[in-house]
Amino acid sequence: MRALTLGLSLLLIAGAGRALAADAENGEALAKRWCTGCHVVSDQQRKGTDMAPSFAAIASQANFNEEKLAFFLLEPHPKMSNMALSRGETKDLAAYIAQQKHHH
Ligand code: HEC
Repeated sequence: MRALTLGLSLLLIAGAGRALAADAENGEALAKRWCTGCHVVSDQQRKGTDMAPSFAAIASQANFNEEKLAFFLLEPHPKMSNMALSRGETKDLAAYIAQQKHHH
C-alpha cells in the first residue's frame, strides 16, 4: 500500500512537471503549422524563403537565448494578423528551435 501511494505521488509530480516545462514536440507541431511558409524549421524541410533564417541558423547564433526567443515570439514579426501565440506556445517553439543548435 505504501509503495502504491509513493508511486502515485511520483506520477503526480511528473505530470505537474510536464505541464510547466516547455514541450519541444508541441513546438515542432506549431512550427510546422505556422512557420514553414517562410522559415526552414527542420532539416527535413527543403524550401523556405531567402528572407527568413532557418531555425538551425537562429539556434546557432552566439547570443541565442531560449527565454529571449520565447519573448520575441509573443509579438508577430513581420506583422501577421493570423498569428497570435500564447505564452506556452512561444516557450514550446523556443524549446524546439533550441534543439537545432549545431553541435561542433
Ligand atoms: C511571413 C513570413 C514569416 C513567418 C510565417 C514566420 N517568420 Fe520568422 N522571420 C521572418 C523574416 C523575414 C525574418 C527576418 C527579418 C525579421 O527579423 O523580421 C524572421 C525572423 C525570425 C526570427 C529572428 C531571427 C533573428 O535572430 O533575427 C525568429 C526567432 C523567427 N523568425 C521565428 C519564427 C517562428 C517561430 C515562426 C512561426 C511561429 C515564424 N518565425 C514565422 C518571416 C517569417
